[in-house]
Amino acid sequence: MYPRLLFLSVLSFYLFSTDILCAPTADPKSSTVELSVQKGHVVISNGIVRINLSNPEGHLLGIQYNGLNNLLDATTDKTNRGYWDLNWTPTQTRGAGGNEKIDGTSYKVITQTKDQVELSFSRIWIPSMAKRAPLNIDKRYVLLRGSPGFYTYAIYEKVKGFPSFNLDENRIVFKLNKEKFRYMAMSDDRQRRMPLFEDRSPKRSKPLAFPEAVHIVNPVEPEFKGQVDDKYQYACENKDSKVHGWISTNPQIGFWIITPSNEFQTGGPTKQDLTSHAGPISLAMFVSAHYAGNDLAVKLDNAEPWKKVFGPVFIYLNSIPGPPPTLWNDAKKQMGVETGKWPYNFVASKDYQQANQRGTIRGRLLVDDSGKQIPANGAYVGLALPGEPGSWQRESKGYQFWTTTDKEGHFSINNIIVGTYNVYAWVPGFIGDYKSPSTINITPGGNIEVGNHVFKPPRDGPTLWEIGIPDRSAGEFNIPDPDPTYNNPFLAKGPNRFKQYGLWERYTTLYPHGDLVFKIGVNDYKKDWFFAHVTRKKPDNTYGSTTWTITFMLKDVINNGTYKLRLALASATLSDLHVRVNNPNNNVKALFSTGTIGGDSAIPRHGIHGLYWLFSVNISGSTLQPNKDNSIYLTQKNAATAFPGVMYDYVRLEGPPR
Ligand SMILES: *[C@@H]1O[C@H](CO)[C@@H](O)[C@H](O)[C@H]1NC(C)=O
Ligand SMILES: *[C@@H]1O[C@H](CO)[C@@H](O)[C@H](O)[C@H]1NC(C)=O
Ligand SMILES: *[C@@H]1O[C@H](CO)[C@@H](O)[C@H](O)[C@H]1NC(C)=O
Repeated sequence: MYPRLLFLSVLSFYLFSTDILCAPTADPKSSTVELSVQKGHVVISNGIVRINLSNPEGHLLGIQYNGLNNLLDATTDKTNRGYWDLNWTPTQTRGAGGNEKIDGTSYKVITQTKDQVELSFSRIWIPSMAKRAPLNIDKRYVLLRGSPGFYTYAIYEKVKGFPSFNLDENRIVFKLNKEKFRYMAMSDDRQRRMPLFEDRSPKRSKPLAFPEAVHIVNPVEPEFKGQVDDKYQYACENKDSKVHGWISTNPQIGFWIITPSNEFQTGGPTKQDLTSHAGPISLAMFVSAHYAGNDLAVKLDNAEPWKKVFGPVFIYLNSIPGPPPTLWNDAKKQMGVETGKWPYNFVASKDYQQANQRGTIRGRLLVDDSGKQIPANGAYVGLALPGEPGSWQRESKGYQFWTTTDKEGHFSINNIIVGTYNVYAWVPGFIGDYKSPSTINITPGGNIEVGNHVFKPPRDGPTLWEIGIPDRSAGEFNIPDPDPTYNNPFLAKGPNRFKQYGLWERYTTLYPHGDLVFKIGVNDYKKDWFFAHVTRKKPDNTYGSTTWTITFMLKDVINNGTYKLRLALASATLSDLHVRVNNPNNNVKALFSTGTIGGDSAIPRHGIHGLYWLFSVNISGSTLQPNKDNSIYLTQKNAATAFPGVMYDYVRLEGPPR
């Protein structure tokens, strides 16, 4: 006993005296985490960053870092600087729903050590809170020793019996110091000095086709004259949206939101959402209708219990010297560090599963589109709640876990929250959706080898012709240059040209005398297939429906055979697509119509896709003619405004089964 005690006391003396010795030249990295509770607010600091939170509401009042007293906008109301908020719609008759900032009513210290403080600001819903979404909400903030930033996450719970409602949007908003944060970065190619919020005012800008977009005509700083400001130009697929933020050059500070996992976001890896906008504003989006429509609302029935952990996200602050891309590159590096630490071992809530409580699957995906199985290369494979093939893109209640396959089709997914899922997949280069024949049960520490999964994409017969690449995007088609009036130089080159404002109106300019006609074997989809099937603007500023024609020759026609038209759409908004064959007469009933579908608004919001749709249309051989031009007429019938329309992903005609 004695020697061991002696050893411990020597060790503690050593540690203690080291602390003392170091104190005068304190390295902020060794400072302990301190909590100070004041009337109406609490302050946590670690010698690097100090955050100030209203108590018990749990809104961010201030973030102090690198000599800047407040990174947030101290000129705005205390409830309006850094906050969690949601949009909701009651579906039982009570209240009006709408936007709600989440006010905590109860403050609690969850963890307090020298190394870590975790705080909770929560509210329990009771029926008298008719103006509040029927959810118990627990917002958490975590500060670690030596860490240049802080974590935040929240647990949302609907108890069985709480009234039905839709959770339409859920997010965190940061309104940053307007004087300081002028440079925004959300990807390697989309980063820039941003216009001021003031430049969006009616005095300085003209409204465009929808309120989010303005044409800046009289900016505070001349460099922004003539530019369009629209937050949707900074939207991004969730899989590519793991870090974004703003930079102050004096003092040198980067403010970054790092989202180390997409597991708690809705709609799978290709769901797009907002990142930053003029303000300066930085968002962490968890639930939204953006690029998807109301399908993505979390629709909760009164008998239904539901609980979900959103986050944590990491608010990372950096201050290394150099031009803005230096801070951006450092933030990307930190994103890699945070991703590597996921799931975080310091999170206190029992509702957040630690690594040893989660499971793993491994397997291989093969595709059989031609009677031969080949490895699915670069396929998206994921777990989501059980449903139909492709249901993951509209799934919003559970967690999702995605990866891509290697060249041999192998995949492995780690850190899966326990539960029952289907394996879903889609493979660039092939149409359709894969779903595992049975569900998979993930258990704590379980490591499931799911073996070979074989995806047989829809196909009845040989390809006679095809337009585009089946990849759920219209990116390979003709994306026109914008009207020069609306050109934003930072989008002019590179992969985000489709994010320019107003491209839908270019259709009427490029096809003034008649609608698009695409001749198989003559035309090239890269040049001759407009990226979106939009309405036509008429001289009196009303809009009309449009009919696109695909013409093709067939050497032989099997009269009693069934041909198959595959129409894969990358987006649809309030569209009714009609298909006619060899008879353009709109008064004759169409061979096929989709009915009115879609609400993803990807056309006005400059997405190159929204949600994916696949339609298959039988064409009787008796309606086709050999050695003559045949025509398929595609009419998008709904044309009340500029915005109903579809984007095609891929179109194919198959011959009769052989
Ligand atoms: C925290 O915010 C409150 C309310 O604005 C303010 O009175 C207080 O001085 C702030 N504390 C720190 C340490 O920033
Ligand atoms: C079509 O007609 C041919 C020749 O009469 C016949 O052999 C074949 O079975 C028919 N196919 C179908 C699908 O009816
Ligand atoms: C399309 O044709 C196939 C094969 O002839 C047939 O099985 C199917 O029922 C048809 N579908 C419709 C919607 O007519």
